[in-house]
Amino acid sequence: MTKLVFGNQKMYINKEEVLGIVEMLKTIENRDNIVMFPSYPFLEYYKDVVRFGSQDVSAYLKGAYTGEVSVSQIKSLGASCSIVGHSECRKNHNETIETLRNKITLLLENDITPVFCIGESLEEYEKNTTLEVIYNQISSVFDGLNNLDNVIIAYEPVWAIGTGKTPTNEEIDSTIGNIKNYVKDKYGVNDIVLYGGSVSPKNIEELNKIDNVDGYLIGGSSSIKDELKYIIEKCI
Ligand code: 13P
Repeated sequence: MTKLVFGNQKMYINKEEVLGIVEMLKTIENRDNIVMFPSYPFLEYYKDVVRFGSQDVSAYLKGAYTGEVSVSQIKSLGASCSIVGHSECRKNHNETIETLRNKITLLLENDITPVFCIGESLEEYEKNTTLEVIYNQISSVFDGLNNLDNVIIAYEPVWAIGTGKTPTNEEIDSTIGNIKNYVKDKYGVNDIVLYGGSVSPKNIEELNKIDNVDGYLIGGSSSIKDELKYIIEKCI
């Protein structure tokens, strides 16, 4: 059983720790299922070691956008993916649907795989509206776009991110199964779907029992060398 291991290192670590993780990754024989998402300055450290991508990308192609990083810039460093619509970006940068659509369009046009994040808040989960919320998050961005079979979806319940809490295996299985059916029926695509939210060495073996999960988008534990190694070894 192989699961994809995507590591979103957020803004957790500096150069020395990144390099320690790069060295650790070199000791892993089969690295095909690993994709790392460091902060922009560290992208190239993963080159020729594992596939890598950015945690976000500009909604613009080129020009006077101080502080932003474009699709062609990450591509020129060898990135193959970019996260889009992470709940932290949606919230901290007030991302609109139009912004997310522009980012996904630019990525697809440049052959970079978008890792599109969706997920319900705690309030929405408690009201039993998870599916309604995530179908809406998908359709508001996907409707009218092309090449959607090249998108990877990451289901990350907002209340599970960084909290140590996760939905039950049955809930994750059912939600991801529903996401797969939804994109198949509506857009005719078989997208890869990851689970994210408090994935750690403590729960990886339990999560690995969920058939519908193609892999994980891992935050905190992807910045801690020994935790990442442990998770990778369970997912190879
Ligand atoms: P944690 O694994 O720290 O909960 O973060 C998940 C996440 O946001 C990955 O994108």
